[in-house]
Amino acid sequence: MLNYPATSSFNCQNTRFTPPPGYTLHPSSLTLSSSSSSSSSLHSSSQYHQNLPKVIAYKHTHFNISPRTKVLKVRCSQNEPLKVMISGAPASGKGTQCEMIVQKFGLVHISTGDLLRSEVAAGSEIGNQAKEFMNSGRLVPDELVTNMVIGRLSRDDTKQKGWLLDGFPRSFPQAESLEKMKIRPDVFIVLDVPDENLIDRCVGRRMDPETGKIYHIKNFPPETEEIKARLITRPDDTEEKVKSRLQIYKKNVEAIVSTYSDLLKKIDGNRSKDVIFGEISSLLLQVEKEKETEKSGNISKLDSQFNKSPSTKENWRGIPTNLNNIPHSREIRDYFYNDVLQATQRAIKDGKTRVKVEINIPELNPNTDVYRIGTLMELVRVLALSFSDDGKRVKVSVQGSMGEGALAGMPLQLAGTRKILEYMDWGNDGAMGTFINIGAIGGRDVDEADDIFILVAPQNAMGNCIIDDLRAMTDAAGSRPVILINPRLKDLPASSGIMQTMGREKRLEYAASFEICYQFRLLYYSGTQYPIMGALRMAYPYRYELFKRINEANGKEKYVILSTFPSRPTGDEVNDAFEGKTRDQVKKASGFWGFLNSILST
Ligand code: AP5
Repeated sequence: MLNYPATSSFNCQNTRFTPPPGYTLHPSSLTLSSSSSSSSSLHSSSQYHQNLPKVIAYKHTHFNISPRTKVLKVRCSQNEPLKVMISGAPASGKGTQCEMIVQKFGLVHISTGDLLRSEVAAGSEIGNQAKEFMNSGRLVPDELVTNMVIGRLSRDDTKQKGWLLDGFPRSFPQAESLEKMKIRPDVFIVLDVPDENLIDRCVGRRMDPETGKIYHIKNFPPETEEIKARLITRPDDTEEKVKSRLQIYKKNVEAIVSTYSDLLKKIDGNRSKDVIFGEISSLLLQVEKEKETEKSGNISKLDSQFNKSPSTKENWRGIPTNLNNIPHSREIRDYFYNDVLQATQRAIKDGKTRVKVEINIPELNPNTDVYRIGTLMELVRVLALSFSDDGKRVKVSVQGSMGEGALAGMPLQLAGTRKILEYMDWGNDGAMGTFINIGAIGGRDVDEADDIFILVAPQNAMGNCIIDDLRAMTDAAGSRPVILINPRLKDLPASSGIMQTMGREKRLEYAASFEICYQFRLLYYSGTQYPIMGALRMAYPYRYELFKRINEANGKEKYVILSTFPSRPTGDEVNDAFEGKTRDQVKKASGFWGFLNSILST
């Protein structure tokens, strides 16, 4: 971690090594005492000066030179050098792997931990500001680290040799700063190590201040007594501080990983360092190859190297903008049809048989004035045609009139739907009437030949409940997939204005038996529908992703990811993420999300 590849282009000046305040020298023994990392256990400075590492000052940043890294093989192509980010919990082995990556690939290693430690050692202004944060295991303020990294990345050597960014970005604002500057890696590696191993790795870690080499008292003891005598311990490597560093890492990791989800490669870091390096090395060689192929005009995505099918999340290109412009453009509509289709296909492929799609872009949200039945019909057509292309017989079902006599009627949203479906253009392949058939909702509408059922916005009408028909249909469908598109199964007021709550529990339980395979919601301030504040998206089998909408200077807008959740977030969780707060379990639902909460349940 402390070593830095020396480059001939550096304008250097050698200075004497000053031990970083708080570092502990282990002159002869590798035994760890409980106070090993406290500054009180420092040895006299004369002991340090017996082993003087060189510290290079380049402008205001100081780097240690490792003699080992002077002879570097530069493998990446001159024009398109590799750009790599490596991330992982404290002590997951980033520094250890970076040493090996640098030796083989010759990338410029930019470790924020090392840069900061060098600043601390040099007693620079940056170092003085960072010291307290680092020693207590907290993150150094974003602005300070970001400026340091961006400054370092802008130097010529990174353009020639490529870069290996270690320990940055480590918070959402840091990732956002890089995104704004369009600084993206070719691959984002995450080292995955179980928590219980991390503490032992940290507490047992020792570093050689001369070479920067990382040791471990048990796993990688030093080669000689001489090295052993000069090893130092980092002040933030106590058990207590490691636990707090780990907590901070966990709090931030999702937002960062989501930013790079299209480039993510998770590596099991709980193996021998050589085995891990073997995997990283073949990955990087592969990425190099891909870059060369891409350069020669033969566009080939990283997906192939990661063995991912074209329909996986990694092909996802972000949320389209201008969702307030009504009617939505053909491009926006196609984007959502395709997004829903891919998620639904994945769910069905995984054997799910009761799934629902919930998408409320303005044109598909019946609570808005701009709702368009045509958009819903197009979505249904895309799904039905795609399944029929796969050779499945699809039944598209729209519920008919409900109730009897004067009370007979159907939900306004569905009025005329069936006719529209029948008149729609279903292509010239003759799918309609053979592979695709239109029916109603109910047990009688399930034919033996049907393979899959798409139910168009099944809903309760005032005073009438669709659940019994739905249940009869799903019972008859048995193990065949049933897909609900924008179901509305929540309570609706009867014509008398009284809420229908009869059999409520049973109905809601039934509605909940359908698993959401796609969800997209726009978020607004409580009680408003303008401007859009953000969006919540989930596409099976991935996590819920929370986005914030940001106005850009050029009059454009974009969506940036704020957080991800394993299950649908509560209003509190969404509010907290927007406010940048940690989760407070006891907080009551309030804030801008309050409004949307009321329409979340189906
Ligand atoms: P930093 O130095 O980046 O610390 P870290 O992320 O906590 O990572 P570590 O250096 O502790 O571990 P590592 O993953 O490099 O593991 P290593 O290879 O050494 O940052 C330090 C501080 O700087 C932060 O706490 C913060 O204050 C500040 N900072 C840095 N970046 C920042 C940013 N972007 N924003 C704000 N603040 C920032 O290995 C650990 C041990 O395990 C070693 O003993 C090693 O020998 C052993 N080991 C390695 N691999 C294996 C293996 N495969 N099997 C067994 N043992 C192994």
